[in-house]
Amino acid sequence: MAVPPISGCENVDRVAAANVPRSPFGADSTAEEVTAGVDLSGKFAVVTGCTSGIGFETMRVLAKRGANVVGTSRSLEKAEAACSRIEGVTRAAQLELSDFDSVVACAESIRSSTTPIDILVCNAGYRGGGNERRLVNGIEKHFVVNHLGHFVLVNRLLDSLLLASQGRIVVVASRAAYRGAPAAGIDFDDLAMARNYTDSAAYGQSKLANVLFSLQLAEMLRGSRVTSNSLHPGVINTDIDRNLNPLTRFGFGLLTKLSGKTLEEGAATSCYVACSDLLSSTSGCYFEDCNAVNIRGTGHMHDSAMAEKLMLVSEELTAKYLVEPERPDWIEVENGQQYKTDG
Ligand SMILES: NC(=O)c1ccc[n+]([C@@H]2O[C@H](COP(=O)([O-])OP(=O)(O)OC[C@H]3O[C@@H](n4cnc5c(N)ncnc54)[C@H](OP(=O)(O)O)[C@@H]3O)[C@@H](O)[C@H]2O)c1
Repeated sequence: MAVPPISGCENVDRVAAANVPRSPFGADSTAEEVTAGVDLSGKFAVVTGCTSGIGFETMRVLAKRGANVVGTSRSLEKAEAACSRIEGVTRAAQLELSDFDSVVACAESIRSSTTPIDILVCNAGYRGGGNERRLVNGIEKHFVVNHLGHFVLVNRLLDSLLLASQGRIVVVASRAAYRGAPAAGIDFDDLAMARNYTDSAAYGQSKLANVLFSLQLAEMLRGSRVTSNSLHPGVINTDIDRNLNPLTRFGFGLLTKLSGKTLEEGAATSCYVACSDLLSSTSGCYFEDCNAVNIRGTGHMHDSAMAEKLMLVSEELTAKYLVEPERPDWIEVENGQQYKTDG
């Protein structure tokens, strides 16, 4: 089934993903609408980047539906302030994604050996501006913050996700993954982006890494009760453009006014993927406007070889911060339910 073309992107074919239930929701659905009737009491969720934009609205709505939510920020005070503006049970945690010691400390402050994590929304994001290349330990900063930081966080929280009756990892990517990333995909030979750096290519490459990480994670988690999906939230006027030059910021602001989403709409796809009963066994998919789509005609959105390589390279780059998750041995019984074995 073809889905409407993306404006300014007519060479891209967006096709409804096969074997994924269609939702009745779309571009103008809000996070509250897509979670109406959902009861998250007793569920534990983590949302990175909860202080503004899509992350704040995602945390607000998950908490409104009854989840106990941990929200992160680089500043504990900012995260606490965001939590205090929300009704429901929330807790603040400090997380600087470009500092893997901070990522490890954050994961340790969130997880316990007995409490399952039901929902992990990898939402926090960085968008540089001015085509000024920034490096973190020799690697281009977008790739570190948007991908590697979340890569370490997921690794460190995986045991707790595996304890959940149905754990969900939701990676907030962007359609920049196929509109802005280099045509050849992730340039593993030049992760510093010393050649041909532009901020949009760097952001796009990091967002492609989000999509491919989620895809490969789904492959690794096959047979477990944890799913992994990624998404584009829409174009929303948030602080993500804070580093862009004033002219580009003005253009982005205009674009979001003319064809963008409200914040309430911008958090809808994250909340839908995190909560919908329809998606309890959907994994390895990419969503736009609350539905799973395949992107054809350009990019590397479903490139499993690139996803596999990304996983290996990311493991090498962050090796000293990773743990070996204790993946339970699952036995499948006839009714499709899975149980953990004792051994
Ligand atoms: N807005 C859009 O049009 C759009 C489109 C496509 C995709 N997205 C994606 O949506 C996600 C949310 O973005 P948004 O639009 O809501 O932007 P935002 O308002 O700027 O929110 C970004 C969040 O990320 C956190 N953050 C930034 N740098 C961080 C770092 N180094 N370590 C840890 N946390 C960090 C910020 O928290 P603190 O500053 O408090 O630390 C903030 O809460 C991002 O992944 C973005 O790429 C947005």
